[in-house]
Amino acid sequence: VTNLVEAANKANKRIGTALSHGVLSNNETDYIDIVKKEFNYVTPENIGKWGSIQNTSSDVWDYDALDSMIDFVEENDIAFKGHALVWHRQAPSFVNGDVTAEDLTILINAHIDATAARYSGQIYAWDVANEVMGDDANYRDSVFFEKLDKKYIADAFTRAHVADPETKLFYNDYSIDNINAKSDAVFTMVTELINAEVPIHGVGFQMHLDASNAPSTKQMTDNLQRFADLDLDVNISEIDVRLSALPWDQVTKLAIQQQVYHRAVNACMNVDRCDAVTVWGFTDKYSWIDGEFGPDDPLLYTADYQRKPAYFAIADAFMRI
Ligand code: G3I
Repeated sequence: VTNLVEAANKANKRIGTALSHGVLSNNETDYIDIVKKEFNYVTPENIGKWGSIQNTSSDVWDYDALDSMIDFVEENDIAFKGHALVWHRQAPSFVNGDVTAEDLTILINAHIDATAARYSGQIYAWDVANEVMGDDANYRDSVFFEKLDKKYIADAFTRAHVADPETKLFYNDYSIDNINAKSDAVFTMVTELINAEVPIHGVGFQMHLDASNAPSTKQMTDNLQRFADLDLDVNISEIDVRLSALPWDQVTKLAIQQQVYHRAVNACMNVDRCDAVTVWGFTDKYSWIDGEFGPDDPLLYTADYQRKPAYFAIADAFMRI
């Protein structure tokens, strides 16, 4: 195949990347050319978050960056996922412990109404609620949960569906890539939402993986399948694979990283309802991993835009049928 889109098309799935508005606006040709050639699905890495849209006051919305990214994807025939309507990180500073429950509800509703309605009909999916489950498998103790209990989650989906009835609405989280206590808790939450007839259409599994202890294909498949069996779409929404904890030389590390990407895409291939694989960036030049975990090479291209073994793992797994 000549590119990842062609490979993904054979599998009838989308191949996505997180896109940096900063890099895109710097007109870095190598970066832009790869996005156009290799991906048919995009998630904005930061500019779709609530704090990026309302960073000064609750009366002011700034959609310039998001509008320009949506223009870019429309020009290039790339599908778009909004990310994320309700998230405890990168929220505006006025969403904090001082706000009353009533005011918080008004703020959330105004944000969802304005933002989801603005792009109605233009985007494929929204991450409506992001990371609401804590690592201890209890609801995350955020300002939202503290003030509104878990009801804010159902309300956000319902509100988003009214504002944009055509777009698929997703729940998105990390460390739920295999069957474990946290994914069990998300499974229970999603089941409750479905039983309450809340409009939820899918779950995104982030898969920020560490090559030194990543799950097996079967572990990931079994987990994706149980969510698909709820009549939901599922996908890999933010994959990257850290290699620095591996004890070997770089060539060996890259080979093991390739195997982990292969396992994950294979799991998606095993599940009919898995509609996409999105990589959280694509070049090791720009990854959130370096800032959070220290230097690493978690993505598909080197910092100077050469394809890595991981790139070929994705192409190969998509083409297994
Ligand atoms: O824009 C400011 C800049 O003005 C300032 O000088 C600089 C100094 O720290 O910070 C810049 O903001 C940073 C922002 O990225 C844009 O680059 C924030 O500090 C930094 O925290 C933020 O990190 C993002 C992170 O989400 C925030 O939670 C990462 O880029 C982004 O990759 C990451 O993505 C998340 C997904 O949305 C949800 N799932 C997990 C994933 C990884 O954490």
